[in-house]
Order: sequence, then structure tokens, then C-alpha cells
Amino acid sequence: MRDPNPQTIYLKDYTVPEYLIHSVALNFTLDDENTLVSSRLTLSRNPASQSHDTSLTLSGENLKLIRVNLDDGDLSKAQYLQTQDSLIIHDVPQQQRFVLTIDNTINPKANTALEGLYLSNGMLCTQCEAEGFRKITYFLDRPDVMTLFTTTLVGDKDRYPVLLSNGNKVAEGELPDNRHWVTWEDPFNKPCYLFALVAGQLECIADRFTTQSGRDIDLQIFVEKHDIDKCDHAMQSLKNAMSWDEQVYDREYDLDLYMIVAVGHFNMGAMENKGLNVFNTKFVLARPDTATDSDYEHIEGVIGHEYFHNWTGNRITCRDWFQLSLKEGFTVFRDQEFTGDRTSKAVKRIEDVNMLRTRQFAEDAGPLAHPIRPDAYIEINNFYTLTVYEKGAEVVRMIHTLLGAEGFRKGSDLYFERHDGQAVTCDDFVSAMEDANGVDLSQFRRWYSQAGTPVLSVRQHYDSSAQTLTLTIGQSCPPTPGQPVKEPLHIPVTVGLLNKDGSVAPCKLQGGDQVCDEVILQLTQSEQAFTFEGLNEQPIVSILRGFSAPVKLTIERSLDELAFLLSYDSDTFNRWEAGQQLAGQIITGLIADLQNGRDMAVNPIMINAFKQVLEQPWDDLSYFSLLLSLPSETYLAEQMQIVDVEAIHAAREFVTLTLAEQLQSQFQALYQGNHRDESGKFDAGAIGRRRIKNTCLSYLSKLENSHIHELSQQQFNTAKNMTDQMAALAVIVNNPHPAKQQCLDSFYHQWRDEALVIDKWFALQASGSMPDTFATVQALMRHPAFDLKNPNRVRSLIGAFSQSNPLHFHAADGQGYRFLADQIIALNTLNPQIASRMVGALTSWRRYDEGRQALMKAQLERIMTTEAISKDVYEVASKSLA
Ligand code: ARG
Ligand code: ZN
Repeated sequence: MRDPNPQTIYLKDYTVPEYLIHSVALNFTLDDENTLVSSRLTLSRNPASQSHDTSLTLSGENLKLIRVNLDDGDLSKAQYLQTQDSLIIHDVPQQQRFVLTIDNTINPKANTALEGLYLSNGMLCTQCEAEGFRKITYFLDRPDVMTLFTTTLVGDKDRYPVLLSNGNKVAEGELPDNRHWVTWEDPFNKPCYLFALVAGQLECIADRFTTQSGRDIDLQIFVEKHDIDKCDHAMQSLKNAMSWDEQVYDREYDLDLYMIVAVGHFNMGAMENKGLNVFNTKFVLARPDTATDSDYEHIEGVIGHEYFHNWTGNRITCRDWFQLSLKEGFTVFRDQEFTGDRTSKAVKRIEDVNMLRTRQFAEDAGPLAHPIRPDAYIEINNFYTLTVYEKGAEVVRMIHTLLGAEGFRKGSDLYFERHDGQAVTCDDFVSAMEDANGVDLSQFRRWYSQAGTPVLSVRQHYDSSAQTLTLTIGQSCPPTPGQPVKEPLHIPVTVGLLNKDGSVAPCKLQGGDQVCDEVILQLTQSEQAFTFEGLNEQPIVSILRGFSAPVKLTIERSLDELAFLLSYDSDTFNRWEAGQQLAGQIITGLIADLQNGRDMAVNPIMINAFKQVLEQPWDDLSYFSLLLSLPSETYLAEQMQIVDVEAIHAAREFVTLTLAEQLQSQFQALYQGNHRDESGKFDAGAIGRRRIKNTCLSYLSKLENSHIHELSQQQFNTAKNMTDQMAALAVIVNNPHPAKQQCLDSFYHQWRDEALVIDKWFALQASGSMPDTFATVQALMRHPAFDLKNPNRVRSLIGAFSQSNPLHFHAADGQGYRFLADQIIALNTLNPQIASRMVGALTSWRRYDEGRQALMKAQLERIMTTEAISKDVYEVASKSLA
């Protein structure tokens, strides 16, 4: 039975642990339904603790307790108390170390929440972050308790031939009854959230990496037998990540073995357990015919992310879970830079900003807004958010921008040197950056405590007699829950100036003596003026280059000026951004036309701007494709006072169709010029050619003629790589294509044994725009391949429909909302984390018209009445309604 009013945990209440756990010897006797855990803890009083309490409270949930033993004597029931979520030993030694041995059993097969020890396709595996270790055994389950782990796994040789845990394998042997055992020892102190074990029938590919100091590291990737031919890209990615961290941060790997295991049931992307990462199969498995180019890129990014955690997360961890962004923000920043270096910096930056502005900005503007270092939570799993991760990475990026690459590296060197082996805070990170560079970041620290997206408003004034340009920049930040008043932030604003002919105009700030191509303005006040001098003509301003801060920018711009910047800005981000602004202004105008019953017509400026882009030669074809992409419906919705899903869809479709009609021959030529079979080639060139070709196909498909139908069907039939096959199928599904059902069926039959490809098949249909989409989604819920217990399936069908299909999810009759609430209520007991994620699509209810508001709110209220509502769902639903 669940407490209907769960407890809130506050950052301000933090106290150091009362006890320390020096070492733990864990012994697992494995069984799918009844695993015996025997834990031998060596503890002592923490000298730093102020408390005088002589009892010891350990956390534990869903555990069947068998025995408690203190310093070799069994404890009687009077000597301890077992509660719903803890074990309290009434009296423990205060002066010396003591040994507590606890035996308990758990049932992995019944664990559908996928936290703790659970079963995935016959494989036993663990997920302990944030607080899953307490579902395995009683422990001080908090990240500032760091312990040496020794783990022995015992199990049937046929059922569990492979037995893995953290660190190095130090012993193994055979037992009677066809059983065997393995002992693993992790030489590094770690918090229990980094513990992992895996047992099952697994195959492995092995490789080796030699570190910069000449140590040989064994690398192993474990998967189900059927997937052994899809591990090579992940292995290469791991080696790339290892050498990148040596080159860029001088960080070397520290154990002799690095293992990755791919599992089919996983709540998140992956987990950085020390020496034994556990991954969602989605971020490991790839073969050219089963994975798209973007899958390949994400795999390399996530492999990098988890590898980078070894230093930013594991060697140095978080003091408490409020500091989550210490490891996640920094590690996301590191993986973004890694991917940028490996692929295209410009494209990677645009993709990250796109995601930030569509998803994180919405979070920051909604009822669940929180700072990157939250100060209260009910369920910490609800705070693995875009704010903590992506905005957290932007905050680290701003420090990088303010200090420069060299200064940032000095800061990270000091951070690693000062805090290796410790559990620290976000403040410690900023202090290291300050101390290494002799700078003051005290105002900058507000980024850690203040929620909401700041708005910058820019006015410009050119004085022709003084030959100066003055930019007056104001900053403000709307109120967020619990924070009615905001203080000004320290914001780096990168600016460049362009002459009328498109050449670079020199930037010289008044009072300064440097003349540069661009400058970083340091905005610290609520309004500040910056004057540039020596400008004999009025320049065009390119501001917030590279998206130098996670803010919304308002600046008066004509369509002509935007078209000019799209042609000439030397900053790749702002060049793309000018095109987005241009398209955004035009689509916004068309939305108003629709709402007021006027006819729509696309301003020729837009057609000409696109035509110019199409006629230029481009080296980076992925970047070229992005220049040709319109802002998404979700992004457009973000810009509206009251979201009008239908008008947004119709206006955007109208622009797409007009561009396709007006520029048909250019799109066709580009398609033909880049259509060749390069399946299996994963270099930037081939990826770019596929991307531009498929962008053209998508435009051409709007023409809906039989020639285009043939073209897409031909691409679908002959594709030898998943990028091309999927792109063709997407076009077929989102058009009245005569062979639609036939293509969907043949795709299903071709790939029915590849779970990740079937996920794509579900997601594509769930995010479709055709009128029968909702009926299709309902039918897919009954499809034999659908499984509410598999998070990837849930995300592919329910997640894609509710989060990537604004048009149909927000259908005016509310059927989409009712459907989602039904699924959340079903998921609440099966998997609270996934259920709570799905509530996300309802949280922004205040952004819609009154009719939709009432319908969404009614479903949130209905969710609140769920019997035995989980803390996870309760927190998100109740805060949404507050
Ligand atoms: N630390 C992991 C990562 O970002 C995420 C694991 C979070 N899991 C969870 N259930 N909250 O790499
Ligand atoms: Zn992470």
C-alpha cells in the first residue's frame, strides 16, 4: 500500500552519513525467482557525523530477510526492526569497526520495474542508479558512502554460463550439482549505485586497447547469441572514446578490463557501472541493414558518454542526488564534444540546440521546471531530466566559453586532482574552475539554482557620425514554481558583425584595444549596453553565435536581413538559425492567415532563400540538409501563445508543398546525384549523401504523383541499408501511397526477429500524420509483438504517439489523452519509471485552448486516482496540476 502523500526530500536537509561502509563481500546464489543474497559489511561510525544515535538504519525494499548477524552473533528479532523500506539495528558498536552479515532473498522474475536485479530475455542483470541497490540488499544506499566491493556469483553452469560483476575476476571454480562460481574484486571505492552483476547465456566479442602510458586493456561486449554480428561499431566507438579522453582531457582508463553488456529491457539509455556498463540494446547493436546513420551516431555518443563517466561520475561522484548534474551535465558536454569531433561540429551543435529548444525549454516553462541542481524531490528518478542533462551540459559549455579551451582544461585538471576518490558537489566543480583560472564565478553559480529560460532582448543603435554601434541587451526570466523573482545571470553572448557585402566587419569594443572577428560579451546586469567602434557603415549583427547560452533571444529582424545572414554568416550555427527564423516567421504568418480565414501564400523571399542554398556547392551535406529543414511542429508550438496544433501542421505542410513545387527540379537533381549504393559505409561523405538524398525525397513526396510513389517504393524495395529503407517507408506511410500496407507488412516480415527494427516499425506508424493514425495506434496495442513490459516497445508506440505526434495526440475530442491515461494507469504498477515518463505529454496542458486544457486536466486528475499510485507518477501528475 502506498502512502498517498509521499515524503519530499530537500537539499537543505543534507547531513553526512552516520556510518561508513569500508568494504562489502557480496555472495549471490542465483536463481530466476529466488536469488539468495548474502552481504558481509564492514562498518564504522563516521567521525564527521554529529549524530549521537547508536542505532544503524539501512535502506532496503521488497527484500525477504532471512538472517542478521553482528560480529559473529545472530541477532534476535528484538535487536532489530524491519520496516517497509529499512532495517534498523538498535545498537551497534560506536568505538570500533564491526561486521554485519545479512542474508535475504529476492525475486528477479517478478521485478517488472527493472530496478535492482531483474530478468531480461533470460538474462539476469542489474540497474542500481539511483536507488536500486536497496532492492538487492540492505545498505547505506547513498552516493557519498563509498565502499570496496567483492562479489561472488554462484549459479548453474548451463543456465548462467557467464557470470560478471565489477572490477577484475580474481577466482573461479566448480561446485557439485552442475554449478560454478566466480569472484570479482573492484579495487576502486565506489557508491553502491555503480554496482552491477550480469548472469546468463551470453556471447562476447573481445578486443584490446593500449593506453597512452602503455597499459593493455581488455575490451569485451556481451550480447545474446543472435546479436553477435552487430557489435563491431560499438567496439570501435569504445576505442574512439578511450583515445579521445586521453587526447582532450588526459584521462586514462584505470582497470584492466572494460565490459559492456546489451540488454533488451532497460528503462534508460545505458549505465556506467564501474568496469561493467549495462546498455539498452538500442545503443549497442548496429549492422548497416538494421541501423540507421543516426543510430550509428547515437551508439557512438552513448558509448562515449558511459565511458567518460569513468572519470566524471565514478572516480569523482556526487555527494547526493541533488548534485546529479555534476556528473550528467559535464558528461553530456563531454559526449557532445566527442561526437562533434567525430562527425560534424556544426551539425552536432544544431541537433543539440534543436532538442534543447523543443524539449528542455518546454520543461523549463512548465509546472515541473526545476534548476539543474534541484532543491527538492519526491522520487529522484523523476529528475533524470532534460534540464539536469542537457541544460546542465549548456551550463558547463558556458564555463568553457568564458574560460576558453585552455582555461577550461586547467580547471578540469584541478578538479580531477583535487577530488579523485571523492563524492562532491556542483559547487566544488565551479570552485576548481575558478581557482585554476583566478576568476570569480559567484554570479555564474545562479545557473545552478535558478530555473527557467532567460529571455534576452536586443536593441541596436548605429551612430553614423561617431561610427559606433551600440547593442543594448536586457535579460529577464519568467517565474517558475517556487521562484517568483529571478536574479540576473552571468551570460556569455558571442557576437560577430558583417559588412553589407557579407564580409567580416571588425569587432572593436569601446575602451578595449583588441580587434577581433567576434567577441564574447559578458552580460551580468538586467540591462547593459555594449558599444563597438570604428564602423564606417552599419553592420549586420550576428548574435548568440554557436548558441553561446541557453536563452531565448528577441531581436527585431526583417526577412531580408535573415535571408542575408542565411547567405553570409560565417558562424555555422547562426547561418542555420537565420534560415529557421525566416521559415518560422513565414509559417507563423500563415498560421495567422489560417486562423483568420485568409488564403495562404508563401512569401517569395523564402523560396529564393532556399533556391540560393540549393544552388551553392556544399562540402558538409548533413549541414546542407539541415539548412533545408523547416522548424519542427513542436518547435513552432513552443513559439505560440496558445498552441494551435492543426494550424501549425497545415501551415508547415503548405510551405513544404510549395517548396517542393517551386524547387522540384533542384530536389530531383540532388536526389539523383546522391543516390548510389554505399550501404555499409559510415564515413561523413556517405552519411551526408544519404541524408541530403532523403531530405529531397521527403520534399518530393509531397507532390503525391505516381512518379514519386514509384520512386519511394523503388528505394524501399532496393535499399540495402536501414537509413534508406526507413526513409522510403516514412514517405510511403505519410502519404496516400497505394502500396502502403503491403510495404508495412513486408517490412514487418523481413525484420520480425530484430526487436530494434520492429521498434522503428511501431514508432513510424505511431508518429504518422495520416487521418487513420489513432486507429492504427489502437490496433498496434493489440499486435502480438507489442509488450507493455518492454520499455523500448512502450516508447516506440505510446511514447512516439504522445510525444512526437502533436497533430493526432492532441485531437480535439480528447481520445489521445484518454488513451495515454489508460496506458499510464496500466504501467503504474508494472514500471513506475516508464509510467511517470509517459505523463510528460500531459504536463503542458496550460499551453492549449480551453477545450483541450479541460480534457488534459481531466486525465491528469484521473491518473491521480490510480490505486496504489507510485511516487514516480504521483509526483509528476500532482505537480502538473498544482
Ligand atoms: N547514469 C545513467 C546515464 O546517464 C542514467 C541512469 C539513470 N537511471 C535511472 N533509472 N534513473 O548514463
Ligand atoms: Zn550519464
